[in-house]
Amino acid sequence: GKSGYDHYMLKEIHEQPRSLRQSLSERVDELGGRVDIGDLADLNPRGVQLVACGTSYHAALYGAELFRQAGIPAQAFRASEYATSPPPIGDALVVGVTQSGETADTLSALREAQRRGARTLGVTNVVGSTVARESDHVFYIRAGPEIGVAATKTFASQLASLNLLALGLTSTDSTREIISSLRDLPGQVQEVLDGSGAQAVAETYLESDAYFFIGRELNYPVALEGALKMKEITYKHAEGFAAGELKHGPLALVTNQTPVFAIVTGDDELAQKTIGNVKEVEARDAPVIAVTDGQSDVERYADHVLRVPETHPRTAAVLANVQLQLVSYHTAALLDRSIDKPRNLAKSVTVE
Ligand code: M6R
Repeated sequence: GKSGYDHYMLKEIHEQPRSLRQSLSERVDELGGRVDIGDLADLNPRGVQLVACGTSYHAALYGAELFRQAGIPAQAFRASEYATSPPPIGDALVVGVTQSGETADTLSALREAQRRGARTLGVTNVVGSTVARESDHVFYIRAGPEIGVAATKTFASQLASLNLLALGLTSTDSTREIISSLRDLPGQVQEVLDGSGAQAVAETYLESDAYFFIGRELNYPVALEGALKMKEITYKHAEGFAAGELKHGPLALVTNQTPVFAIVTGDDELAQKTIGNVKEVEARDAPVIAVTDGQSDVERYADHVLRVPETHPRTAAVLANVQLQLVSYHTAALLDRSIDKPRNLAKSVTVE
C-alpha cells in the first residue's frame, strides 16, 4: 500500500533515505577508505560506454562524468541510438543502466555490444531481470520495488551505485571524501524532505506553461531529470539545458512567464559560470528558482530558493534532484494529475 501517502510517487520520494542506505550497505568501508564491489573490482576497464533510456540515461550521463573525473574515457549514449548506430567500442566496458532490466532499447544496445565482442555490465534494480541474466556482470542498485511510473528512488540509487562503481573500478585521490559524503547522504536527503519548500514554489508557478532547468557538469543531468519528471507527471512543457547552451538558442524562449530552475551547488568557477547564466535569464525578467547549498551568491538573483545541505558536488546533485522531484510532484498534485500512472506511459517499455 501507499502507507498513508496520497501517491506511490510521494511514498517513494520519502523512501529515499532508506533505499539509499540499502544501496550503500556493506559496500562502503569507511575506516579502510574504500568501497567493496566484489569481483567487479577486477574488471579494470580502459574505457566505459553507458547505455540507457529516460531517467536512467540521466544517471548514465552522471556516471560517465564520474569515470572521466577518474581519468577513464567514458560516454553515455541513448540506448535506442546506440542499438542501431553504435560508436567504435574498442575494449570499452559497456554498462547498461536500467531500473527494470527489461527496457527493450537498452537490451538491444547491450546485445549489439555483446555481438561486437564487448564485455557488458548491467546496473539494475530487478534481480533476475533480462539485463541481469544476459549481461556478463551485474550490479544491483537495491532500491526496492518502485510502483510509480515516474522513477524517483531508483534514480537516487542509480547515482549512488554509479559512485560505488566508479570508485571501485578506478582510483581517485578523493575516495575518502566521497565515501564520507555518501555516508552522510541518506540523512541529508531526510533533511531536504523535512524542510523542502517545494510546495510553495509549485503553487507560485502553477499557471506557467513552460519550465526550464539549467545546470552544469554533474548538475546538468539533474536539470534534464527535473524537466523529464515535470513533463511526465504534469503534462507541462519543460526543458533541461546545459546552462552554457542557453544563449545558443533556448534563451529566445525565456520571458517573465517561464520559471527557470537553476541548480547551483558549491562556489567554484563552475558555479560562477552558471550564475552568469542566471543573470542572463534574470535580465529577461524570468522568475529564478535557485536550487542551492547556499555557498555561492546565486540567491541574490533568485526569486525563490530551494535549499540543500552542503556536501560534495556528487552528492549535492542527488539532494538537488530531491527538491526537483518534490516540485514536480506538488505541481502535478495541485493539477490533480494521474501521478502514478501518467497518460501514454508504461513503467517498463518492452518495445523498441
Ligand atoms: O527501467 P528503465 O530504467 O530501463 O526505464 C527507462 C525509462 O523508460 C524510464 O527511466 C522512464 O524514463 C521513467 N518513467 C522516467 O520517470
